[in-house]
Amino acid sequence: MEIWIEKYRPEKVSDVAGQKETVKMLEGFIKSGEMPHLIFAGPPGVGKTTMALCLAREMLGENWRDHLLELNASNDRGIDVIKNDVKEFARNGSITDGKFKIVFFDESDQLTPEAQAALRRTMEIYYKNVRFIFSCNYSSGIIPPIQSRCVIVRFRKISLEDMVEALKKIADTEKLPVDGEILEAIFENSDGDMRKAVNILQSISFIEKPTVKDVFDVAGSIDEKEVVPLLSNMRHGNFVEASRISTGLIVDKGFSAIDIIKALHKLISREQTSPIIKRESFMALGDVELRLAQGGSDNIQLDYLVARMCKLSTENL
Ligand SMILES: Nc1ncnc2c1ncn2[C@@H]1O[C@H](COP(=O)(O)OP(=O)(O)OP(=O)(O)O)[C@@H](O)[C@H]1O
Ligand SMILES: [Mg+2]
Repeated sequence: MEIWIEKYRPEKVSDVAGQKETVKMLEGFIKSGEMPHLIFAGPPGVGKTTMALCLAREMLGENWRDHLLELNASNDRGIDVIKNDVKEFARNGSITDGKFKIVFFDESDQLTPEAQAALRRTMEIYYKNVRFIFSCNYSSGIIPPIQSRCVIVRFRKISLEDMVEALKKIADTEKLPVDGEILEAIFENSDGDMRKAVNILQSISFIEKPTVKDVFDVAGSIDEKEVVPLLSNMRHGNFVEASRISTGLIVDKGFSAIDIIKALHKLISREQTSPIIKRESFMALGDVELRLAQGGSDNIQLDYLVARMCKLSTENL
């Protein structure tokens, strides 16, 4: 079985979903055959590694693999080895017509500042025939002297529209019967991360007639709809009923307290209620989230939350 995130990894800059401004800029580089050193910064799964490979492929032409050196800072490799690799790569088999090669430093914010400092000179010495691309989650993980030698390209989370379009293409190719509701549910569970979204899509492809609920199950989170009755009872101060519902969510449906809190948070964010109730609710959710992280038990903490929220609603009648 092929993993879809690899099977559907875009091969051309223009095929990368979202990142429209970046696509435009990189296409300009490809057209002119010139590019500066680059830093690709942004959240996980939005196309940084993909885009670097697309750029290399289109920039370097047919034997692009021979002119690209991929280094992953997460692999435990000393900076001396890295510098030697870069040196050797830069020297050997120089590209014709004064063209440059590309060194791609993936996950470069994992490099220690000392290692990065050692790279500064290397970048300058080999500027004539080597361009560097660094990818990282936060550009602040790259030391200022390297930042100032590069153009920083910001990658953004994938929007609903772009994600649905990209997922639809994959689903059509795979002849997977999914409607707009399912794709939107995948977006909701993806946090704008395309890798996560494609993985969810592949997981539900094993289900015969996948539903929105399957998406939430696979993603291991709760559809907000599940906590609507809970919130409504808490807002009416019905402690007994609210407590019964919250226990049911844990015992019968198998959700964790933290899932329930996250779903409540989303729901309350959009709720039409007084600013005071909203404020106090968020404070209660925050307290309980912290207690859970410190090892509080799911059922006791949820009962505490229900008690506090019910008290809040009766006090503010
Ligand atoms: N913008 C995108 N358009 C289309 N597919 C994408 C996009 N971003 C990510 N993907 C899919 O997700 C997979 C992983 O993306 P990629 O490795 O480029 O993420 P990344 O931004 O480098 O993440 P990380 O910060 O975790 O390294 C790709 O193989 C591709 O299938
Ligand atoms: Mg990456």
